[in-house]
Amino acid sequence: MSMNRRKFLSLAAAVPLTAIGANAFFRNSAHAAEPGFPLFIPGASGPFGVLEPEGPLKLVAEHGRLPLAGGGATPFLWYRASHQGKDYQNPILRVRSGQELKVTLANSLSQPTILHWHGLHLPGKMDGHPRNTIDAGAEYHYAYKVMNRGGTYWYHTHAHHLTAEQAYKGLASFFIVEDDDDLALRQALNLELGVTDLPLVIQDKRFNDKGEFLYKPNPMEGMMGYLGDVILANLTPSAFTEIGTRIYRFRLLNGSNARIYKLAFVKDGRKLPYHVIGTDGGLLDKPYPVTEAFLSPGERLDVLLDASGLAVGDELRLRSLAFDPLEGGGMMGGMMRRMNVSRLASGEAFDILKLKVARRVSERHRLPARLSNIRPIATAKAKVRPVRLEMGPMRWFINGETYREDAYPIEVRRNSTEIWEIRNDRHSMAHPMHMHGFQFQVLARRNSPAQVRALGRYGNGRAAGDLGWKDTVLVWPGETVRLAVDFSHDFGGDQVYVFHCHNLEHEDNDMMVNMRVRA
Ligand code: C2O
Ligand code: CU
Ligand code: CU
Repeated sequence: MSMNRRKFLSLAAAVPLTAIGANAFFRNSAHAAEPGFPLFIPGASGPFGVLEPEGPLKLVAEHGRLPLAGGGATPFLWYRASHQGKDYQNPILRVRSGQELKVTLANSLSQPTILHWHGLHLPGKMDGHPRNTIDAGAEYHYAYKVMNRGGTYWYHTHAHHLTAEQAYKGLASFFIVEDDDDLALRQALNLELGVTDLPLVIQDKRFNDKGEFLYKPNPMEGMMGYLGDVILANLTPSAFTEIGTRIYRFRLLNGSNARIYKLAFVKDGRKLPYHVIGTDGGLLDKPYPVTEAFLSPGERLDVLLDASGLAVGDELRLRSLAFDPLEGGGMMGGMMRRMNVSRLASGEAFDILKLKVARRVSERHRLPARLSNIRPIATAKAKVRPVRLEMGPMRWFINGETYREDAYPIEVRRNSTEIWEIRNDRHSMAHPMHMHGFQFQVLARRNSPAQVRALGRYGNGRAAGDLGWKDTVLVWPGETVRLAVDFSHDFGGDQVYVFHCHNLEHEDNDMMVNMRVRA
């Protein structure tokens, strides 16, 4: 452990921690006989409360304590806000497309931080680039217009070399953008946020014997990613919730540092069909029926589950199915298995959320045939940029580079269109690659492993989750993923962003490069 981290830990222990009352976060279960804990569902204030910003907003990054179901109050890092007389911790921000936002980040942690708006199209200075990391006690001012389509975005810490630990300990939440397409869907299906439209962040954590988050990656875990052995849905372990016989929308966010999920709804051992309706950058053109989908760190998947054909008393589970993590092509994989102390290996199967059909609902809704309009990026004049991902000595490289603050390995021209051909080495591991500032479109997957090819039924090897606007894409070992990116913007001057792996241990170990958009 470096001196800096040692210092941080002892300082943190000395800071008086604000705690939330034990029942404020997890209300007592009305169903004590149920094994597990009621899924935490965001309300109108408090932890993860839905906040619709009117006027300037201040987010204070600070130490707190969050009581978790079945455990003690774990030290937690959150963004605290007070807005129109209500208090929030890690508010779910809900805004309209086109809305102007003014946000001040105040750093009340005992270490540096910065806040990044994941998926938003913003000027470089508003993006939360790691070079804008501020010291403890300092503030950063954001003012921008939300130009994105409706969709499920998120915000989280991007503190230079501290992102993984700070995000693990809590600094992240949803950023929901609404537009007319989203409103139309909401009306067609009579969806209500927090009731039938559920933001669901999936994470894996390790706990110490006091029931507190344990974040202590060894060097091999720094290389491969830090896996937890307790699966949390909205911070609830062994989560269950009751549903009615109708359509539900789940806005799934993989908020894990390193774990990949293969998501399926399962009833009596059989996979149920569900519909993918949206990806990182909002709604697809129409709903796509699937039975399973991969979700890697940073990605979102918006899905509809139709429970109208089920009977009261039926039980189903949102599960992660077994898959081959394809780690390190042999040697690394073996080393990984020996040195990773997580009891839940990558690719193992487990439940995420139990759903119990508890009531009959008479509402009947039809899935809309159209959801939104996705215009393909014109690529006729696009320049092709090769991007290689490969292993180096105890770190990962992007085109042979690791992060240097004043180097710009990727330079693109404003208003140009590029095709990125991201090729992952065969002796590598799966990397969820993320671009700041711009959403892209996946054109093709090539040389995909069989388990990925099996889902790639939508042309050029693409799965349903590849068909919309994206900011993060999983690239498997040996695979090549082609993306189209349109670098049009109307911000003044050069803009600097980063392109990095969203396995947060990889990011903190510098699997990241600057991307400069030249005016
Ligand atoms: Cu969600 Cu650069 O990050
Ligand atoms: Cu991002
Ligand atoms: Cu990676």
